[in-house]
Amino acid sequence: MSHPSAEPPPSIVSEPLKLGQLAVGSRFFLAPLAGYTSLAFRLSVRELGGLGLATTDLVNARSLIEGRRRAYELAETCPADRPLSIQIYGIVIAEMEQAARWVEGQGAQAVDINMGCPVRKVVRCGGGSALMRETDQAVALVSAIVRSVSIPVTVKMRLGWDDESLTAPALARAFEQVGVAAVIIHGRTRQQGFSGRVNRAGIRAVVEAVDQIPVVANGDVRSIADAATTFRETGCAAISIGRGALANPFFFRQLDSWARTGDPGPEPTFAERITVMRGHFHGLVERRGDKFGCLQFRKILKWYFHFTRMRREYYRQLLNLSSPELFDRVIEEAASAGPEPYAPGERPFEIPVPSGAIDKW
Ligand SMILES: Cc1cc2nc3c(=O)[nH]c(=O)nc-3n(C[C@H](O)[C@H](O)[C@H](O)COP(=O)(O)O)c2cc1C
Repeated sequence: MSHPSAEPPPSIVSEPLKLGQLAVGSRFFLAPLAGYTSLAFRLSVRELGGLGLATTDLVNARSLIEGRRRAYELAETCPADRPLSIQIYGIVIAEMEQAARWVEGQGAQAVDINMGCPVRKVVRCGGGSALMRETDQAVALVSAIVRSVSIPVTVKMRLGWDDESLTAPALARAFEQVGVAAVIIHGRTRQQGFSGRVNRAGIRAVVEAVDQIPVVANGDVRSIADAATTFRETGCAAISIGRGALANPFFFRQLDSWARTGDPGPEPTFAERITVMRGHFHGLVERRGDKFGCLQFRKILKWYFHFTRMRREYYRQLLNLSSPELFDRVIEEAASAGPEPYAPGERPFEIPVPSGAIDKW
């Protein structure tokens, strides 16, 4: 990513930020991306610097309190993984309270409630973005969770179910009144899925609806210019970044440097990019074993291919990645071969998102 003429950062970025009692050192947060924002990825990004609060993939509250292995793996953390928010979803108040207490016991600095997920599996049982249509139920749920833990509680939501039902401003205000420490707003409706552009005026309406709590803007921030526009057009206190962080794990470091000095700093070299990829892969394998690490990395490989610019022939050799030894050998060769040159007219990498009729997701 290049930053030809970075706009100066807004003055807000040099002011301290607090979510309830929690002081956060950077206004750039990692958004949850189910299947990607693992502990290994979070640690790789944290090592590069500039990341404020990170959030886990969404975790089902019931699975967590039933002690299911998959839920524990999603919520896995360690002392270097701070500050961390664990995101939970569900609609049964007692289960969500118990899960929030578990999150607090796990040492997380915050608990995030998912009210944004549009995926059918989550919405069908009334969770995720479906909660945005049930205002009273949503407020009762959030209020109960706030009362059950002493760490900050945040809510991540979309602008509403569809354009006719933009409930985020009213909900954010109600959540503030019951003690939520911040809201994170993805500037699209559930009906929109990932299509169209993010609606920054919609996020601004949420900023204007609350009294004091920070509003964290989310959606489509891929460059310093996007971050500058997002601060300017929404009036948000912080920005949460999902796909942009996978496309460029150095993004937080660049944003933080821009926020402090007006300059995003040098582009990461080819060698630095390869080092990050290696660290991420080996972190996954160490924690989850060779088989899981290799399978999961196959999904991420395409992103790294674009990000590192490793030569195509090496990328192809890793498509059926089956062992850490193969990974090390191929990456060693790819590192010595140097980066793939940009083709004339090459378009920036488009990150895949769920598509098609939204009710089929
Ligand atoms: C593959 C994928 C998985 C996601 N998983 C979650 C999730 O677990 N919880 C959540 O609140 N949002 C989830 N989201 C939404 C993102 O957190 C974010 O709101 C959205 O991608 C827009 O931000 P971005 O443009 O910075 O990626 C997911 C998005 C994608 C593409």
